[in-house]
Amino acid sequence: MSETIQLQNGRPKAPRAEDLELKFSEKAIAELEGLKGHYPDLKSCVLPCLWIAQREYGWLPAPAIAEVAFRLQRSYAEVEGVATFYSMYNTEHEPGKHMIEVCTCLSCHMCGAYRIVDALEEKLGVKLGETTADGMFTIHEVECLDACDRAPVLQIGDQYVGPVTPESLDSLLESLRKEEISSSVQLADSIVKVHLKNGNS
Ligand code: FES
Repeated sequence: MSETIQLQNGRPKAPRAEDLELKFSEKAIAELEGLKGHYPDLKSCVLPCLWIAQREYGWLPAPAIAEVAFRLQRSYAEVEGVATFYSMYNTEHEPGKHMIEVCTCLSCHMCGAYRIVDALEEKLGVKLGETTADGMFTIHEVECLDACDRAPVLQIGDQYVGPVTPESLDSLLESLRKEEISSSVQLADSIVKVHLKNGNS
């Protein structure tokens, strides 16, 4: 038998606070309040709020999506639909401290992107989509990063690195190992700041 969907003003109901373990920090709540002022319809606030959640939780597990739905008074299904549509939100698993995204689109491909993928897989002992056992690195393949003049190029947090070679990866990985801040969290924080400044994406 199908479950009855509870409606509120004609829309599926948002999750209730008493059913959730809310984790947003005071900073996150203040940011969200600031963002709400930019958007007359809170539906438009889902994308930046998901970035806040990704920074607060480190990724977007079901409780993070539920918190966004509660705070914006949208249904869980609606927020989950947005979060799973965009590849920049991590809904499937918690990424490593540093997410290394390798562009394998045409220009990068022609400049040796798959040699970079092979080298990363060999140096880190993981395949695309996997995280190293120490939780330090996750590697992913992505579409054009709009930095074709730097092909083959990587995105790590809010930085583009390129052109890279299999040989230049050693010093790059070494410097990332010494970084204190997760580049994934840093990326989310930068994007939240841009949203707060501009009021749009
Ligand atoms: S093809 Fe790689 S940045 Fe455009």
